[in-house]
Amino acid sequence: MLDVILVGFMGTGKTTVGEVLAANFRRPQIDLDAEIVAAAGKSIKQIFADSGETAFRQLETQVLQQAFAKSGILSTGGGVVESAANRKLLQQTSIPVIYLQTGPAAIFDRLKGDDGRPLVQQLGQAGLRDLWQRRAPLYQSVATHTVTTDARTPLQVSQQIQQLLSQ
Ligand code: S3P
Repeated sequence: MLDVILVGFMGTGKTTVGEVLAANFRRPQIDLDAEIVAAAGKSIKQIFADSGETAFRQLETQVLQQAFAKSGILSTGGGVVESAANRKLLQQTSIPVIYLQTGPAAIFDRLKGDDGRPLVQQLGQAGLRDLWQRRAPLYQSVATHTVTTDARTPLQVSQQIQQLLSQ
């Protein structure tokens, strides 16, 4: 069974925090983006370029469904809440869902040069802020807990999550 699911916008630290939690709990880490890349046999950038975002989202839903049968710490991609089917899966599970929340300005600073994230390059800073605002309530709608990650290290964030999970 999955121990915990991390959701949140791109660049909020889901993968890194997932790695720290996996090491601390001695559990496998599952990264949804990495699973998608393995399933498609190409990078996320290439999936977007070859098949578009809709095809990427369909693959993301399939891989999320499969991930529920695995065990460990699941880090999702930032757009996992776009699909109503994914939100339903996340809302209905008894597994804790942690929303890692970082403000849009800090996220843009972290990601502006990141060539591997096609959406950031497509949207620019204003578009990224709009997307963040549209998605924020979607993350809230699936989360059992919210943890702010603006000015905190992945280790600090992981410690807070471990505290929340032990309550
Ligand atoms: C996306 C976030 C990415 C990746 C893809 C789309 C999004 O994951 O799934 O580029 O729509 O926000 P990260 O949140 O790990 O960057």
